[in-house]
Amino acid sequence: MPKDVDIIKERLSVADVLRGYITLLPAGKNFKANCPFHQEKTPSFIVSPDRGRWHCFGCGEGGDIITFVMKYENLEFPEALRFLAEKAGVQLASVNPQHQREFGILYDINEEAKRFFYNSLVTNKDAISYLTNRGLTKETIQEFELGFSPGGESLSMHLIQKKYDVRDALRAGLVYRNTRGLYRDRFDSRIMFPIINHVGKTVAFTGRVFGSASENPDNPKYMNSPESPVFNKSKVLYGLNKSKGDIAREKSFVVVEGQMDFLMSWQCGIKNCVAISGTGFTEHHLERLRRLADTAIVSFDNDEAGRKALERTLTLFNKFDFHTKVISLGEFKDPADALLKDLMFMKNAIESAKPAFQYLFDLYFSSGKVKNDLALKKRVVRHIIEILATIKSSIEQSEWMRELSRSSGIPETSLSEELEHIEHEKQDGKAEEVPMKEKHQFERRIDIIARQLTSLAFTNDEFRGIVLENKEFMPRPFLSVLENPGAESATVFQMQSTYLFGSADHEELKKEALELIKQLKLEYYKAIREALQREIKEAGVVGDEEKLLEATRKFQECTQKMHQLS
Ligand code: UTP
Ligand code: MN
Repeated sequence: MPKDVDIIKERLSVADVLRGYITLLPAGKNFKANCPFHQEKTPSFIVSPDRGRWHCFGCGEGGDIITFVMKYENLEFPEALRFLAEKAGVQLASVNPQHQREFGILYDINEEAKRFFYNSLVTNKDAISYLTNRGLTKETIQEFELGFSPGGESLSMHLIQKKYDVRDALRAGLVYRNTRGLYRDRFDSRIMFPIINHVGKTVAFTGRVFGSASENPDNPKYMNSPESPVFNKSKVLYGLNKSKGDIAREKSFVVVEGQMDFLMSWQCGIKNCVAISGTGFTEHHLERLRRLADTAIVSFDNDEAGRKALERTLTLFNKFDFHTKVISLGEFKDPADALLKDLMFMKNAIESAKPAFQYLFDLYFSSGKVKNDLALKKRVVRHIIEILATIKSSIEQSEWMRELSRSSGIPETSLSEELEHIEHEKQDGKAEEVPMKEKHQFERRIDIIARQLTSLAFTNDEFRGIVLENKEFMPRPFLSVLENPGAESATVFQMQSTYLFGSADHEELKKEALELIKQLKLEYYKAIREALQREIKEAGVVGDEEKLLEATRKFQECTQKMHQLS
């Protein structure tokens, strides 16, 4: 019986799946596109329908439809498989009971818990009026399926009644075992916010203390489900499952700290919103957001922690080349607080959001304290330049340096020196990542040439013929690709041929092919000569006349062949 992966791949073509995410341009047998996984202006991303694979020659990423969906949607393998299975109309659960036991059950149990929490909320007058007093409408509560967890063992009992295994509830993080070995609900008297992943599955919860439990200072105000096979904190963002469409349409997103900030913003018409909910941004989050938007609007809490989070986030946003703006909250403590008092607050604040650096300059230099304290001013300026150093565009960077000079009253030349100093330190601190293009830099020259020729052989039969005529000069791994063009190992060469030669003129390419063959031969003879040279030396040492003569003759023969070539 074929595996479900194979059935899915058979039903869904790589081109059709990827076309749902990126624009594919025809390029011979293949397609090309701008790579969604790194910033680029000319396409290095090649898709091969024949082979059901994609590869980016810019960043080195590659794979099949499943790896694409995993990367693009930030999903784990089983989730990506389910997502594609649904598209393909393949019944996964019945095909693979092992998966169902390991992952499927966790989705089901979270879903059941969500229902239970929701039902516990709507029958709890106090909890409902708490939420409505905080400004949430019944519609919002319903849409985001908020709930209430009574705690004790109410959820555990409910799940057991529904024939779930309590050990699965344990794996999902919904219950824990106390010191006496008893199963207890993890969330004790809490307002529950379900966390939904990109494909609409409930994977975890955040719970906020409620009622008498909030009087215990040891009880954290907000608590998340622990990580589980279906919940990877660094990949999921609260609200993104709802807001991704609007984020893509507006090419911008508003980021807030808390679930309440998110829900109030959403309710007031800010639909392109996400909440980091206490965890902070990861590169996973940003890779995903970068594909949807180029502008980030930050609205963190109006306190020291919020400012710190802003600066951390700004550094990360710069790395991903976002245009970042910041909302001024005025006297309000956070977006939820502002919106409770003024429904239009966020809309107006977004209109007048300042570029992030302008916001920081105003924040630091508007007070006389920094102006009049030279030591403090030095520290602040250095701190800001450290953030400025993470800006990608040098034009933008120099503009902000000029602005910083204006705001701080420090001449630009001194600021530039400081920036250079910081950049030096950064480079000393860690080696730069090696970009993929130089991945092959330690290859022998003959391998580089052979790699190109092998790709060329995939462009058309004529070139394939030319290359095969000279196969004796090809290093063995390339030869085996040439002789088994349908093999898995040939796939990347087939795609590289589109990448390197897809748009080249036939005659030009032929010239290049012949030149490459010449270079290949030269390298080949050079290597033989080097080997002979070693032989000559050895024969000299041991005084083997015959071997010396033979090697010398071969050496001259080789030299002659090289002369004939060039
Ligand atoms: P805040 O403490 O600002 O929460 O933390 P809030 O939303 O303003 O709280 P209330 O409900 O209005 O009183 C912001 C976010 O940080 C996370 C939560 O996601 C919260 O929404 N957080 C906060 C935690 O994860 N743990 C905590 O103990 C506190
Ligand atoms: Mn807050």
